[in-house]
Amino acid sequence: MQTKVRKAVLPVAGLGTRFIPASKATPKEMFPIVDKPIILHIVEEAVSAGIDTIILVTGRHKTSLEEFFDRNYELEDTLAKQNKDHLLKEVQRISKLANILSVRQKNPLGLGHAVLCAQSAIGDEPFAVLLGDEVMYGKPNVTEQLVNVYNKEKKSTVAVMEVDQSEVSKYGIAETKKNPGKMEFSEIEHLIEKPKPNETKSRLALPGRYVFTPTIFKILRELKPSKLGEIQLTDAILKLAQTEGVLAYSFNAERFDAGDRLGFVTANIEFGLKHPEISEPLKKYIKEKAEKLK
Ligand code: UTP
Repeated sequence: MQTKVRKAVLPVAGLGTRFIPASKATPKEMFPIVDKPIILHIVEEAVSAGIDTIILVTGRHKTSLEEFFDRNYELEDTLAKQNKDHLLKEVQRISKLANILSVRQKNPLGLGHAVLCAQSAIGDEPFAVLLGDEVMYGKPNVTEQLVNVYNKEKKSTVAVMEVDQSEVSKYGIAETKKNPGKMEFSEIEHLIEKPKPNETKSRLALPGRYVFTPTIFKILRELKPSKLGEIQLTDAILKLAQTEGVLAYSFNAERFDAGDRLGFVTANIEFGLKHPEISEPLKKYIKEKAEKLK
């Protein structure tokens, strides 16, 4: 079996209902964080973690995502004629970033189902999953951190972060074994999807970065759909934890839920403050605004 993590699945077939009307005809994954679409931030994260093949799990109205990573000869030609070399290089860099494949999820039947759609493109090897609307910023990046743990431990590993009690019901929540060695990771004992406040004491949420062994596919194929007809990734991770074992890794990075309006705006401010050209004027604007809001 191939042991290196060299492929990643990016589920991007969701309807993006939290972003209606903006997401009605444009995939939310194409919305820009400053000047890069969300999907580019995520593909770049995967590529810097050593991944060379990206499988986009797409749906209807998502063809612009495939086009974004393809060549655009007309644009390249125009930029070349206008001597806009740096823009030309950037446009060409994007189309050479990775081997980008896409598979269709014909109905959005849940995240687990989306991952299962990529099975034939992955085959029998470990792989990463990066949710198409979660933007993270860290050095090394979160996928790299997970791949490092996987390489040492040879076990499926998922990123976890502590959230406020009031946020617990929005996430898959992991209950883990006590960790006497104070390692950054611990074994998952139980997982609950969007628990009610009295259902768990844990506040360890899974925000959307994973490395799995291919065993997850066998589990996903045999899973029964939830009451809403969805195949839940959380259910499959729990089964994997009970058989092969799954590690929960407390990652070190800034994280933005860019599929949510507030998360999206915050990500734009944070990345704007890191951007070499707009950082200073943006800082000035924020300071002036903060004064007026006092
Ligand atoms: P979300 O639930 O955050 O995305 O799924 P959504 O369904 O697009 O958005 P809302 O909640 O209606 O606003 C997390 C990720 O999983 C993908 C989504 O595209 C998103 O990137 N997903 C979700 C799929 O690919 N297929 C699914 O069936 C469900």
